[in-house]
Amino acid sequence: MGDHGSRPGVNGLKRLEVESLHFPKKPIFNRRFLFLVLLCFGLCILCYTMSNNSFSWWEGFQLNIQYEKFLNRSRDVHLHPVYRVHPKPSVIPNETHATTKPPPTTPPGPQYHVAYPRNYHFIMDQADACKNATPFLVLMVPVAPHNVEARNAIRQTWGKAEVVQGEVVLTLFMLGLSGQADIEKQQEKIQHENMEHQDLILSDFIDSYLNLTIKTMVIMDWLATHCNNAAYAMKIDSDMFLNIDNLVTMLKKPNIPKINYLTGMLMWNRPVVRSKNSKWYVPEEMYPDSNYPTYTLGMGYIFSTDLPERFVQISKSIKPFNIEDAYIGMCMKKLGLHPSSPPDPSQFKAYNRQYNRCEFSKVITYILGSSKQLVDYWTDLKKPGQPC
Ligand SMILES: *[C@@H]1O[C@H](CO)[C@@H](O)[C@H](O)[C@H]1NC(C)=O
Ligand SMILES: *[C@@H]1O[C@H](CO)[C@@H](O)[C@H](O)[C@H]1NC(C)=O
Ligand SMILES: *[C@@H]1O[C@H](CO)[C@@H](O)[C@H](O)[C@H]1NC(C)=O
Repeated sequence: MGDHGSRPGVNGLKRLEVESLHFPKKPIFNRRFLFLVLLCFGLCILCYTMSNNSFSWWEGFQLNIQYEKFLNRSRDVHLHPVYRVHPKPSVIPNETHATTKPPPTTPPGPQYHVAYPRNYHFIMDQADACKNATPFLVLMVPVAPHNVEARNAIRQTWGKAEVVQGEVVLTLFMLGLSGQADIEKQQEKIQHENMEHQDLILSDFIDSYLNLTIKTMVIMDWLATHCNNAAYAMKIDSDMFLNIDNLVTMLKKPNIPKINYLTGMLMWNRPVVRSKNSKWYVPEEMYPDSNYPTYTLGMGYIFSTDLPERFVQISKSIKPFNIEDAYIGMCMKKLGLHPSSPPDPSQFKAYNRQYNRCEFSKVITYILGSSKQLVDYWTDLKKPGQPC
């Protein structure tokens, strides 16, 4: 499950519906409640008048107290908790001795990470991938280092074509460092695999589910620094079916913008998941609002390649949180941009129940259950004869 995309939307919504059924409505205007409201109001005014720094009272409160408290609790000096300035992880000399002390208790829940991708470095980078030919579309696939099976299935299916309808298409895999013990053996395997396929990019952050935002931002950094001559790029998960022909057809339509363009399956007004045992849990300290800005579901979203550099720059001023697709939504919002609805939204599908050749010939995305499904469906789709 390590490299599945984050999809708070679908289940978050379901959960909300379920929860709202179980909470009986209480009378709102009882005296105690009114008293509390007045007390809060008074406190707010007090806070406001007492704050004499340049932040707004809300921001000051968030950053200085809540944020710090949370960080004190999580106590992980490796995850240097600064998001406005971006020191390299190595320059925290005086905090290092803190690690020798045993931590008081293992802190539950997710840990902070720094999403600014230029804190990390490429160990393997496909430096020439976009020099020899200018791609029309680059498919960037975040995948767990050990998941060779998913990479091989993609290489045999939608990642195979180098030219689609006369346009150059490039497929690359983004990997972080495996958190496992035999890191050297793992690296050796990866190097071997790369010698054969020349399609792996490896960066030096720890590859884990909670670090998917880092992974996405490292993808953005790579595109900005190594491939900004491409027209479009797509971040697509490794468990996806992609009808690459339909995608290229869509992107070649004359009314598709060439800049400031982000599209996919749009998620509007999705609630932040606050239930601690959910894989999409985000504490309020990381993200105080109760809803996300409009974003495109992480399974697969497409963007014009002017955006990656802008995402990287704006990420300096956005507090990191672990839901990568909503984080990109946040970057868009801060840039004053909005994700666009695709020409035919019904082409972006998430969960499928059953394979249907005719249907798969019309869609652009579908989430699959296994790499075997991808190979099987693809083989069936490409066999001779009309699909419908
Ligand atoms: C967090 O820890 C620092 C240093 O250990 C301390 O100065 C500060 O008061 C703590 N903040 C909170 C809110 O507990
Ligand atoms: C580290 O600690 C030493 C001694 O406590 C102090 O002199 C020095 O300025 C500190 N360095 C930094 C970078 O905080
Ligand atoms: C995220 O990546 C950072 C940088 O490599 C690492 O220090 C941290 O442990 C990772 N966090 C998780 C939860 O894996």
